[in-house]
Amino acid sequence: MPIKKTLKDAYSLKTPEDSINLYKSWAATYDNDFAKENDYRSPIEIAKYFKKYSDHDDTPILDVGAGTGLVGEHLNDPMREIDAIDISLEMLDIARFKNCYSKLIEADLTKKLLINNDHYGSIVSAGTFTHGHIGPDVFDELLRVTKSGGLFVLTIHSKLFKKARFDKKLIEIKSNITRPNFHEIQVYGNNPDIDHGSDKVIITVFRKR
Ligand SMILES: C[S@@+](CC[C@H](N)C(=O)[O-])C[C@H]1O[C@@H](n2cnc3c(N)ncnc32)[C@H](O)[C@@H]1O
Repeated sequence: MPIKKTLKDAYSLKTPEDSINLYKSWAATYDNDFAKENDYRSPIEIAKYFKKYSDHDDTPILDVGAGTGLVGEHLNDPMREIDAIDISLEMLDIARFKNCYSKLIEADLTKKLLINNDHYGSIVSAGTFTHGHIGPDVFDELLRVTKSGGLFVLTIHSKLFKKARFDKKLIEIKSNITRPNFHEIQVYGNNPDIDHGSDKVIITVFRKR
């Protein structure tokens, strides 16, 4: 029987290759033994804040680190094109069957993306700007592929906001973005994990100027 994956496995990743390996073996059980069991709230909260801040011009949408497609499912908007991007083919293969994405893009977000400038009207992301995954430098490519006026709604792990210099990055790019709004939320409704059960993320919302 495969060993159950935990947050400890996810938070101890160091490289994009580590992500490929971990999520390859986690994809099939991620929705049930991680998301459902722990009442993982980030995707539904991202969908909620996206709906609060978006208007009809904010399309197409790019779901960054889309994984098995939980954000796409919660956005649940057949009128808007949503694309998923992720380094893990196995996670995207689960997302494929949810029929909420127009396109699935297998790519490493820490590299230059094969996406035209000014293409997306929104960037959404849950659970991916976190320990051992992707950091603030990825904002540069995401800004490049987003249209002027495009909306960003992302979770950033609270413990990393300063430590990984997301705060500094938002200052560095401040002439390219509107003043961000922040909403801190609890990630899990029901996670008994002694180290991470009370983890929080900062939902960060801004527009590209
Ligand atoms: C915790 S999962 C979150 C998935 C989904 N957004 C959710 O909330 O359930 C993090 C995702 O980030 C992806 N990821 C990690 N590093 C990446 C990278 N360098 N480029 C693209 N995706 C990456 C992983 O493959 C994984 O699917």
